[in-house]
Amino acid sequence: MTAESHQEPTDKKTERRSFLTGALAMLCGGLATVPPLGAALWAFLDPLRRSSGAATFLPLTDLTNIPADGQPRQFPVIADRIDAWTGFKAEPIGAVYVKREEGSDRVEALSATCPHAGCFVELDKAAGCFRCPCHNSSFTLDGGIVAPSPSPRSMDSLECEVNKSGAVSVKWQNFYSGTEEKVARE
Ligand code: FES
Repeated sequence: MTAESHQEPTDKKTERRSFLTGALAMLCGGLATVPPLGAALWAFLDPLRRSSGAATFLPLTDLTNIPADGQPRQFPVIADRIDAWTGFKAEPIGAVYVKREEGSDRVEALSATCPHAGCFVELDKAAGCFRCPCHNSSFTLDGGIVAPSPSPRSMDSLECEVNKSGAVSVKWQNFYSGTEEKVARE
């Protein structure tokens, strides 16, 4: 056997070793980028996570649009909405009935979403009550259940705020339907 024939396997070994070293270095480098990538992805998703649940005050109308006569009036709740990866500017996301008793500045709001199964509750002005057309639940103008109604609870009240310049905002929240207890969706 010549010296050259011994040389060849040694070169191959060296070659293989440097290939493995290079591959290991690339793997370690790749793994090192995983935590920053994860953090970046989480930060990117953060607005979507935050937009999914927390109740927030949204502008509704001006106090002058709610005469103090005890009559509920319907207003849409408008907000920017994020659906998966798409943003929608100033879209209706729900509706509320708002009223103000005679001589009062206090504004009361009820969600127009039926607590039974989520249909839209309508105001029956002639009968002086709310009615849900889906399964015939009825409610008083204060939102209380009128028996017999399949709804397990009264209409959901919502917090309202009136600022110094008369701007009315509502703390918009969705609640689970079909439950006796009023439980906010997160
Ligand atoms: S959804 Fe309103 S009564 Fe069923």
